[in-house]
Amino acid sequence: MCTRPTHFARQTISSRLFLWSVGDGIKCKFKPPSYHKNRRVNYFRPGSKSAGKGSIDLSFQRRDLLMEIAPRTRNSWKKRVATFVGGDTGIWRVTNTKAVAGPPLKSVDRIEVVEGNLAALPSGGKWLIRGVTSNDRYTTRKEHEMLLSRQPALGRPEATHAALIPITKSESWWQLSQSERRGIFETRSGHIRVGLKYLPAIARRLYHCRDLGEPFDFLTWFEYAPANADAFEELVSILRQSEEWRYVEREIDIRLAREIST
Ligand code: HEM
Repeated sequence: MCTRPTHFARQTISSRLFLWSVGDGIKCKFKPPSYHKNRRVNYFRPGSKSAGKGSIDLSFQRRDLLMEIAPRTRNSWKKRVATFVGGDTGIWRVTNTKAVAGPPLKSVDRIEVVEGNLAALPSGGKWLIRGVTSNDRYTTRKEHEMLLSRQPALGRPEATHAALIPITKSESWWQLSQSERRGIFETRSGHIRVGLKYLPAIARRLYHCRDLGEPFDFLTWFEYAPANADAFEELVSILRQSEEWRYVEREIDIRLAREIST
């Protein structure tokens, strides 16, 4: 594996490692063997004893590597990451948790939303999941503009209810082409068409986690006023009956109320 930081970063951050052989056993997808000749190899783990020229400490996990190299990459996900910690602290009190599909998460009293990356579970935490905001994949220009004009910001004082819904889609979803996914997501399921009707009542943010090696593909976050709680139930129920949801293999629905802990 090529350990030059920029190459390694690009190889690891891509969802699947796909490498070409380079020179003396080093592999790199991005540059031909000649590029690597006589170049110094940099290592990511400070003080690692096993990292000699052309080698890498295998005990170093993929996630650790991502943490090390991410700040060096352009448009680093580390600048856009949020960590959701389930435990006994945080302004969001859990009012209900339901494993809609797949295995549940450990039940917790509160969720702390940390802007940034938490490498380790803080005391009192039972789990943490991370996600990054990203560019849109499916929207047309018109949809994009409609979303921008209608969607409210997070953190509105009246939006004291929230939902954190982590979702994983099946391998068969990820095997589809982008245009096939768009066909299911929008043409046949109307995700955006339906969702737009619930703006600006619902504020939303989508985090991606599939490429971070997290257990979920997406973390979806919604905030709304208690008066719009029924509308949110209606929206969730419509989406769950759509063709898109046939590809959802894990979904945990966590409902929250904003409340400063005492
Ligand atoms: C409040 C109204 C909603 C609107 C306006 C909305 C809009 C969108 C848009 C525009 C995208 C695509 C982003 C892209 O192009 O990459 C998206 C993706 C997604 N939304 Fe929603 N959404 C809404 C509600 C929901 C709800 C209630 C859920 C969960 C129950 C949800 C789950 C998701 C998921 C999992 C994705 C990622 C799909 C994928 O990339 O495969 N959305 N949403």
